[in-house]
Amino acid sequence: MSYSRIARFYKLIEKVTIGRALLDARLAHLDRLAAGPKVRHALLVGEGNGSFLLPFTQRFPGAEITVLDESPAMLQVAQARLAAAGVDTARITFRQADMTSESLPEGRYDLIVTLFFFDNFDGSTVRQIVLNLESASTLTAQWLLSDFQIPASGWRRVRAQVWLAVLYAFFRCVAAIPARCVPPTEAILEATSFKPFAAKTYCGEMLYSTLYVRNHIG
Ligand SMILES: C[S@@+](CC[C@H](N)C(=O)[O-])C[C@H]1O[C@@H](n2cnc3c(N)ncnc32)[C@H](O)[C@@H]1O
Repeated sequence: MSYSRIARFYKLIEKVTIGRALLDARLAHLDRLAAGPKVRHALLVGEGNGSFLLPFTQRFPGAEITVLDESPAMLQVAQARLAAAGVDTARITFRQADMTSESLPEGRYDLIVTLFFFDNFDGSTVRQIVLNLESASTLTAQWLLSDFQIPASGWRRVRAQVWLAVLYAFFRCVAAIPARCVPPTEAILEATSFKPFAAKTYCGEMLYSTLYVRNHIG
């Protein structure tokens, strides 16, 4: 899989589809995060072109941030976007990394951010990455997750099925993503020590954004 071919057009692709709803979903819990425990070290996985990173850096000026993405072109676009906005990137580490094989330091990050990332993979790969990220989290970490979903019934379900069939066909073609349908990411995450704390949906329930907190006992 590689998003490098479309890194420079990614923002445009969003804009002509459901860009506003995607942005709303990414930023849904920023206020809640800002009101909660201090974020010291955030890990942004598959961050792409910086749509979340830019507002996050502005909202959390004291946080150390690690950005991992498989695509060097996406990382470049994100860095250029921060530079254009005049953001000091001294506290941000950008690293090209494949999360299917990446080893992470244990207990390091108190915020994990995975936005429209897991829907690129099948369920077993999602489980493997989720467990890796869980062990890289502090015992009181929070986790911000947004992705696509198919509502249970009604016209919203049909609408989401049509949208997702088109989006999966497009991204399989231009970015060679391995997935063919949305994996059960929420169920996988809820089987870990992270539990949902606040949730919102967007775009006729086709997008969800959930903030999880780690439920550490002992
Ligand atoms: C659909 S884009 C989402 C980007 C961004 N998070 C957003 O909200 O728009 C998926 C991102 O995950 C990255 N990615 C795909 N496979 C990856 C992997 N195995 N390891 C790390 N990043 C990966 C891609 O390069 C791309 O930037």
